[in-house]
Amino acid sequence: MSFSFSRDAIEELRSQIDIVDVIGRSVQLKRAGANYKGLCPFHNEKTPSFIVSPQKQIFTCFGGCGASGDAVEFVKRYYNLDFNEAVQKLADEYGITIKRNTYNDDREKYYEINRQAARFFYKNMTESKNPGYTYMHNRGIEDKTIKKFGLGYAKDSWSDLYDYFKEKNIDEKILLELGLISQKGDRFFDKFRNRVMFPIINTAGKVIGFGGRALDNEAMPKYLNSPENKIFQKKNNLYALNATRQEIGKEGAAIIVEGYMDAISLYQGGVKNVAASLGTALTENQAKLINRYTKNVILSYDADAAGQKAALRGIDVLKNENCKVKVLHVTDGKDPDEYIKKNGREGFLNLVDKAMPYTDYKLQAAKRGLDLSGEEGKIDYMKRIAGILSELGPVEADVYIKKIAGDVGISEGAIKMEILGNNNTKETDNRHAVQKNIRKEEKKDGLSTLEATVIKCLFIDPCLSEKVVEYSDMFESDLGRKIIDTAFEMYGLEGDFDKYRIIDKLEPEESEKLEESLEKIIVTGNENDVIKQCIHRWKFNQLERKEKELMDMLLLADESNKSALEELTVNLMKIQKEMKAHGGKM
Ligand code: CTP
Ligand code: MN
Repeated sequence: MSFSFSRDAIEELRSQIDIVDVIGRSVQLKRAGANYKGLCPFHNEKTPSFIVSPQKQIFTCFGGCGASGDAVEFVKRYYNLDFNEAVQKLADEYGITIKRNTYNDDREKYYEINRQAARFFYKNMTESKNPGYTYMHNRGIEDKTIKKFGLGYAKDSWSDLYDYFKEKNIDEKILLELGLISQKGDRFFDKFRNRVMFPIINTAGKVIGFGGRALDNEAMPKYLNSPENKIFQKKNNLYALNATRQEIGKEGAAIIVEGYMDAISLYQGGVKNVAASLGTALTENQAKLINRYTKNVILSYDADAAGQKAALRGIDVLKNENCKVKVLHVTDGKDPDEYIKKNGREGFLNLVDKAMPYTDYKLQAAKRGLDLSGEEGKIDYMKRIAGILSELGPVEADVYIKKIAGDVGISEGAIKMEILGNNNTKETDNRHAVQKNIRKEEKKDGLSTLEATVIKCLFIDPCLSEKVVEYSDMFESDLGRKIIDTAFEMYGLEGDFDKYRIIDKLEPEESEKLEESLEKIIVTGNENDVIKQCIHRWKFNQLERKEKELMDMLLLADESNKSALEELTVNLMKIQKEMKAHGGKM
């Protein structure tokens, strides 16, 4: 028996509780204008960036962890409950009776049949000599690993499993649905034959499906998986997580691999904080699942092109869930399974240490197929990486720009201009010009990274307005100006503002743009320092722009007009001196 609540009942509950009270029971909240603010309970922070809005009845963390939602969502996350449990807890605490819909959940029946099938396969594997065992043994899999993961063997027979269930009077319809048997005319036969069986077990310990590995490398398909059905959705699960989530929590990191064999091989080799995404590119739900145990994810996909492509996609999915992502590249053998067999635990841990932060990985991947010794290659590379860099916060972007400049031999200034799209040099390359214009268009109605970073900091601590006000020229986009003018006006009148009240003054498209820009910014560390860095960077950009302008004028100047040339040169030197005094980029 399971239960759920009706939609009405949940609405009723929502209308009777106040989010400020709910959260106030676990987090110390202080009034901040129309809102309340405190230290985010979902990540470590020293300055409060966790905002609770009584008007909207929602909470949002602006400190980069991205947590946000209503009271039920808060209880769910804070106490690690599922939705129904969270609703029940709130109802109990506030003495609200809400109607429960109980219904007969026949999923339990499906789980039970799968469990019996798994036991059946496991017996085949362990109770007598069989080709499955020999196969796994030859691949270096030990008895204790077979036991740990409940690995089994499906005999080379048409009805071994079917006969077993027939005797127990199990409904064929369910066996068909679970993909354990197939039907041809009025005859039923086993779906998995002569395969090593990997039971897929969810974090609640239920057997939800199987993967069957052919023993013979010619047999097709190499892996046969359970079909999607009411208890098995590949996109919602990670193989081995049921056995490894404690290790993942303990290590504070999850290594995500492609295949069944990678997962159990690493585990057996002593690298236990592992789970497999089962051949597909990582899905949003899989990322959310990992996120329950850790934010640190190391993608360790196959060395081939498909694996690397999957890693690139995986990065974006994980970033969307606010994970910290690194990419591990196996250098010996085609996948983690082969690598750890050859190089052992120490060898693999060495690779873990050397795993690349995702930005490095993306930048490296962008080099593929380009000849960076030539102009053409450099220009193409810049185009490929501009998007990657523009997603970073200002501090991080700066570090990478320095790296790339040294690495590829392009000046830091040129890289910055490519990113900001304000390259003022005379265009020699047409494609370049087109791209520049496209980017300018995009910039016109959105926020620059610099603007968004400062705005994000101001939302965390509106008092920083006092520092920013004299640099309001920093806000160059239409939207940026509008937001900052509104914010300063509110601050001037009431000494406070918050995101929601500003959004109230924006057009819907504008607030969408704002949210979009804010989402991309992660403020790490103290907002005061971040703002300082932004101001510093902006001043430097101004100087750089001026320098560029003067250099262009020098190039165009009439050679015979000595006094004009001299004046330009003197001005240029002044600017360059100022830039130097400014202490470089940051
Ligand atoms: N996969 C699948 N169906 C296939 C091939 C692969 O579902 N026909 C999934 C499996 O989950 C498999 C993963 O993709 O574990 C990775 O595939 P692959 O790299 O081809 O297999 P390996 O894990 O290397 O398998 P093995 O070492 O047994 O060859
Ligand atoms: Mn393999």
